Amino acid sequence: MVKVLEDVGLSFDDVLLLPRKSSIVSRREIDTKTEFTQRITINIPIVSAAMDTVTEATMAITMAREGGIGVIHRFIPPEKQAEEVAKVKRADNVIIEKPSTIHPDRTVAEARELMKNLGISGLLVVDSENRLLGILTRRDILFEDNSTRVSDCMTPRRDMIVAESSISLEEARSIFKKHKIEKLPIVDKDNKVKGLITCVDLLKREAYPNASRDSKGRLMVAAAIGVKEKEIDRAKLLIEAEADAIVIDVAHGHSSMCIETIKKLRRIYGDELQIVAGNVATAEGVEDLASVGANAVKVGVGPGSVCTTRIVAGVGMPQLSAILECAEAAEKMDVPIIADGGIRESGDIVKALAAGASTVMIGRLLAGTDESPGAVIVKNGKRYKIYRGMASIYAMLGREFRSREDIAEALIDSPEYSYYAEGVEAYIPYTGSASEMIKKLISGLRSGMSYLGARTIKELKQNAKFVRVTLAGIKESMPHDVEVI
Ligand code: XMP
Repeated sequence: MVKVLEDVGLSFDDVLLLPRKSSIVSRREIDTKTEFTQRITINIPIVSAAMDTVTEATMAITMAREGGIGVIHRFIPPEKQAEEVAKVKRADNVIIEKPSTIHPDRTVAEARELMKNLGISGLLVVDSENRLLGILTRRDILFEDNSTRVSDCMTPRRDMIVAESSISLEEARSIFKKHKIEKLPIVDKDNKVKGLITCVDLLKREAYPNASRDSKGRLMVAAAIGVKEKEIDRAKLLIEAEADAIVIDVAHGHSSMCIETIKKLRRIYGDELQIVAGNVATAEGVEDLASVGANAVKVGVGPGSVCTTRIVAGVGMPQLSAILECAEAAEKMDVPIIADGGIRESGDIVKALAAGASTVMIGRLLAGTDESPGAVIVKNGKRYKIYRGMASIYAMLGREFRSREDIAEALIDSPEYSYYAEGVEAYIPYTGSASEMIKKLISGLRSGMSYLGARTIKELKQNAKFVRVTLAGIKESMPHDVEVI
């Protein structure tokens, strides 16, 4: 692989990828599968940013359904963040582990109330030992009086089709098809309820064949923590909510606090826990985080669209050079890197992956969509959403669960200093659905891969040859000498 790495720092606009001989005839031959961490593979290389104007449950659900993954931000109380994780885990859950039940002596009125409150269309009828006695669906009670007992209108166990927990989803599908039923309870040898599969959930799953799923078929989600002592308690709640990865999310990841946090998590949770850590911008940063147990390292100091770190602190590394340098170290350490920040178009994704990243983290391009938190604002007849850097002053002050002392401490660990924000708040154009945005970006990625004759992301890295461009080259790359309609 030929990589440009000189003593000048290069960013995405400074280079172009050379076209290579390609035998690809259809973009369908192209596989965008990649590693998010050492043990988590996802189908598209896109991760949504851990920012309060980008990723909560709604965005994370869309990301996972499309084949990527979202990182739930940490700028809310830990319980609320864990609830956001749980919402993603519940979203397309094919096997409901604890289905809602009712006792046969209850009335239709109580069943109606329960179904309404839970927003579901049926209840399993069980005795006090959780043994299956029947099923009650909305249809069963359409014409029943409120006072009728559940046992008098349910479909009894003897008329029901049930399955054992070893059933595969394909088997479940053929049962739904053959018996024209909508709910398939799972019971053990003693007829005790162990779960429920509904055909609605199964169909939803089929609607998203590319989705990122855990071993139980649930959507995958990651969640962010900081590096303060109490963030270990936050991690505990997130892990209990079954987050698939914990992302240690700090501006300066190449720090002893970040290293200590990785070590602590490893000590407590062992090898299984997938830990992402960052941000760094040097090979040493990658080595130091990976050597204490990070399963993926996030790269990017200051490239983000709402970052002012480079202006305020004078620190950073243009993102393409940061990726090139970090990717070399990452390859040695066998750890994937996430290129975080500065992605403005699909071409930047192609360049970031070609330079050695396994995934890219995106903030701004997703912040303008329906799925990001916050309302659409109309200004001078145009629609916008608010996007803000997490180190911007209003983001810091807006974290209402913190005291002012906490804020000062979080900002620079030294309350006597005043704070110089390292991020800005901004209006960004409203852009509609995140899923459409992701499809557009992936279409661009596939195009880039086909120009390089790359069927996989690994081949994209192998085939990558960058050429540096001048200002004249950049001008030539844009539409020019025409009035764009
Ligand atoms: P984009 O370019 O996609 O970048 O908007 C998103 C990434 O920007 C980082 N980030 C910040 N960096 N000050 C910074 O220097 C900030 O206030 C800030 N907020 C977010 C972060 O890495 C995110 O994923």
